Amino acid sequence: MAHTPDSHEAPRHDAEEPLVAELTPDVAPTMEAFLGEVAEHVEEGAQEAKAQAGSVVGPYIAFQHVHKSFGEFVVLDDVNFFVNAGETLCILGRSGVGKSVSLQILMGFLKPDSGTVLVAGQDIAGFNERQMQEVRRKVTMVFQNGALFDSITVGENVAFPLRERGGMSEEEMLQVVKGLLEMVGVAGMEDKLPSDLSTGMKRSVAIARALAAQPTAVLYDEPTTMVDPLMGQLLGDLIQRLKQQLHLTSIVVTHDTRFAENLADRVVFLHEGRARFFGTMAEMRASEDPILREFLALDELVLPY
Ligand SMILES: Nc1ncnc2c1ncn2[C@@H]1O[C@H](COP(=O)(O)OP(=O)(O)OP(=O)(O)O)[C@@H](O)[C@H]1O
Ligand SMILES: [Mg+2]
Repeated sequence: MAHTPDSHEAPRHDAEEPLVAELTPDVAPTMEAFLGEVAEHVEEGAQEAKAQAGSVVGPYIAFQHVHKSFGEFVVLDDVNFFVNAGETLCILGRSGVGKSVSLQILMGFLKPDSGTVLVAGQDIAGFNERQMQEVRRKVTMVFQNGALFDSITVGENVAFPLRERGGMSEEEMLQVVKGLLEMVGVAGMEDKLPSDLSTGMKRSVAIARALAAQPTAVLYDEPTTMVDPLMGQLLGDLIQRLKQQLHLTSIVVTHDTRFAENLADRVVFLHEGRARFFGTMAEMRASEDPILREFLALDELVLPY
């Protein structure tokens, strides 16, 4: 089936459309309460970050002069970017430029060689594993491959952060899992094993699991790669609604410039170790930089629909 850019087969979700609007009525009230708690966490997180910055409103997440090499191989060379609380940043760039490495540095899975890494308003450079675990309660990541636990069901994967936090009845947990799976477009998959799912579906489940942790910020690594266009649209709309309604902060690694166009307050374009561009998508489109122009032109050609 051919898709045109204007095909309207998927129901579009306006940013203002309530997140619970299309959920099964039996889970909607529980989900409404659950999402309300997320919004509270987000607000508290933003206040905390402000307090840490000493009343000056600082960025929620930032790279300041970050360097990272693997042996002789320089991946990041003095990279700078930021995202304010409640905003969305897209990281763009060709394969191998350090997009995933950047997210792993933000999560503390990789350490930078030098520079300042700000996460949830704190400089995490000197943080030990225990302190990082605290940070990861607030800022969660959706990995490129989903990184689900293979031996437990989809439902248990999503329930995992709920169980870890505790304080919820089994019935409430089932409802939240059901509601989250509906929200990410994989309703009714609770009893399947991750190996039964396509790559795109795994990614959706990973997003549901990330949201189950009630984060203040989510880092997505290529959320729409290997996902069909309709699912891509659904996930894009979802990220937009999470921003609009819960004020979640997001960083989205993508090479889909249309996706960035719709979602990003700012984009950072990584190229040969540098943040070659940092600004709005409109500014990027207006740039005369031949490297940026080439990337945008190629992207038009490569996009499948
Ligand atoms: N743990 C590691 N040890 C050594 N080299 C690594 C490690 N992680 C990443 N690299 C290298 O760093 C470079 C950047 O990798 P990264 O995964 O960040 O690329 P990317 O921009 O996410 O690319 P893609 O779009 O293909 O996902 C690559 O050359 C990769 O081989
Ligand atoms: Mg990557």
